[in-house]
Amino acid sequence: MLKPRRKPSWELPESALTDEQAYLNRRRFLAALGLGSISAGALALGGRNLIERAAAQDAPELAKLSAKRNAAYAVAERSQTAAPAPMRYNNFYEFTTNKEAVWELAQGFSLDPYALRVSGMVEKPGAIPLETVEQLGLEERIYRFRCVEAWSMTVPWIGVPLRKLLEHVGVKPGAKYVSFVSFYDPKQAPGQRTQTWYKWPYYEALRLDEAMSDLTLLVTGIYGRRLPPQNGAPLRLIVPWKYGFKSAKSIVQLKVTDKKPPTFWHDSQPKEYSWLSNVEPEVPHPRWSQARERHLTKKGAAGLSFEELETLPYNGYAQQVAKLYPGAGKKKK
Ligand code: MTE
Repeated sequence: MLKPRRKPSWELPESALTDEQAYLNRRRFLAALGLGSISAGALALGGRNLIERAAAQDAPELAKLSAKRNAAYAVAERSQTAAPAPMRYNNFYEFTTNKEAVWELAQGFSLDPYALRVSGMVEKPGAIPLETVEQLGLEERIYRFRCVEAWSMTVPWIGVPLRKLLEHVGVKPGAKYVSFVSFYDPKQAPGQRTQTWYKWPYYEALRLDEAMSDLTLLVTGIYGRRLPPQNGAPLRLIVPWKYGFKSAKSIVQLKVTDKKPPTFWHDSQPKEYSWLSNVEPEVPHPRWSQARERHLTKKGAAGLSFEELETLPYNGYAQQVAKLYPGAGKKKK
């Protein structure tokens, strides 16, 4: 994506660049020695985080999360991406811009004890525990997911329609937007320490009618298990007809407002990332076409595999959401 204009990576100080690499090298070194569980003393140089993470050489198995599949949300024209590929190829700039290194760097990341803070124009503001969100009605849905960088995947998410949460807290009359804020914890997230030109924490927003669409999900699971850290644990947004960066991960705050909220990528590079960012194959990104995509199929011994597919208007969800954008295609958004 998403090369920062203000401060390119080659301007990074040496100390920042070695942060991630040194961590991964040390982990691989320990793994090669078979030091799965290692004493605190032996790792004194690496610090507490490193000790905890070094103990987990591979991603731990995640707790099961069961939910009834909603057959109305299936994907017919392409096959589902095989696990664990979507858990090994991630965009999560709080950790690193290297998609294949995110999962390893994010092991051990935790927001426990977690609660989603809800504020603004709602009847019942407050901190909502994860269980309360899930009790609103978990279901499994298979969705297409299209990143603005022209790669995609097809994934079974487990979540609750955001509309149910908004109904639960009661949206006040006059509200027009919902904004989302991700976590801020530079101790756990190396990218928040090194990529200081970004305005952390990550923030996104939807119009209220988009937030109330039945497609918009608050997600806590994937492939029948709890979300792993690299995919936005414990709770993320999924908005399948928009480019993936609208689907903010590891959200801690939700605010209902009548003023148009700012968004992370639009603020950072407004000419490249529009506020709405619906999937529009006929509208090229200034640096590449959006007409086709590399669909992630699996991760095998030889690495990740992709197939090339045509990108669909609204990522295949035009029937559900085109009505939200009556002027689309006629005027510049
Ligand atoms: N949310 C946060 N907090 N930080 C991020 O860097 N990246 C976005 C989105 N949400 C991002 C984020 C982008 S660009 C994409 S494509 C998706 O997360 C990737 O989600 P995935 O790693 O689960 O595929």
